[in-house]
Amino acid sequence: MLVNGVPYRTIWLADDRVTVEIIDQTKLPHEFKIEKLESVFAVANAIKNMLVRGAPLIGATAAYGMALGIKDDPSNDNLKKCYDLLLATRPTAVNLRWALDDLRTILTETPVGDRKNVAYKRATDICNEDIDICSNIGEHGSLLIKDIYDKNNNKTVNILTHCNAGWLATVDWGTALAPIYKAFDAGVDLHVWVDETRPRNQGASLTAWELGQHGVPHTIIVDNVGGHLMQHGHVDIVITGTDRTTYTGDVCNKIGTYLKALAAKANNVPFYVGLPSPTIDWTVEDGVKDIPIEERDQHEVATMRGKLANGQMVDVQITPDASFSKNFAFDVTPRHLITGLITERGISKANAQGLRALFPEYL
Ligand code: MRU
Repeated sequence: MLVNGVPYRTIWLADDRVTVEIIDQTKLPHEFKIEKLESVFAVANAIKNMLVRGAPLIGATAAYGMALGIKDDPSNDNLKKCYDLLLATRPTAVNLRWALDDLRTILTETPVGDRKNVAYKRATDICNEDIDICSNIGEHGSLLIKDIYDKNNNKTVNILTHCNAGWLATVDWGTALAPIYKAFDAGVDLHVWVDETRPRNQGASLTAWELGQHGVPHTIIVDNVGGHLMQHGHVDIVITGTDRTTYTGDVCNKIGTYLKALAAKANNVPFYVGLPSPTIDWTVEDGVKDIPIEERDQHEVATMRGKLANGQMVDVQITPDASFSKNFAFDVTPRHLITGLITERGISKANAQGLRALFPEYL
């Protein structure tokens, strides 16, 4: 997508075809900074500290992490070390495990001398596949938005989204935001309510920035406003992303998604999830019981990060010195609250039957 009119992906290979380059998302929206990743340790740090984030981008970055990690030592021993290091960075987004398993399988079947080239090629393929997947999610999802627009006699379609499931969370296009970009580009008059998404404010900082770069009308709201807007008829559809969706249709996504789904159900607002197939966990049946929920440092709750008038970025404390905080990063929305899952192969009901019909190879 465009940054000041120039097309970018979130991750790419530098001219030396070895170094990986990313957009440092901890600096947005105030600074657009490209960071070079030159080792598996730099990649692990970038994922853990959220220079890159969003389930599909975490997977793609980890794939390049494996390539960087084994390029000088492609032995089985080192392969395992890199796999373990990267897998431990973040626990919830299943794309991380999916990408690492994919690389491990391919590399184990490859002669040691060819592993470096194969790893780089597979990581690049994963990035290209992610773009295709997200673009297709955009096509399918945009029809939902277009349908609302047509039924409401071309009245502005109001869409609410949570966290950032845009192009910054993927390699390009995004999941929840891809339908919005495609509908907007096709001429649908739309407006996006952007949840700020405390504590890290991915909505206020990232979603608002990328929608703004594309010229999509949007308004940032604090996290508790969505229910009020739905009660008063100001939301036509909710679309979010997902970090892990069980094969039965439970969706684990950024903390607060569940509350939005409850409010949507109570107010008859359709609640959809942009779901790339690598985000489906075919091993988990009950999302509430069995998906590991990341708990991050309490510092993220106790502080807010922002820009001073002189442009300097600072963290300020907003809680009493003696108070403790808890920082759950994700929650699970049970399938009965979800209207549909927008996948690259079409829209499915949030249940095992629907997902298996679209992805029969996993039966
Ligand atoms: O903690 P984050 O910023 O990695 O969480 C991101 C989300 O929760 C997104 O909604 C999800 O990864 C889907 S991204 C297409």
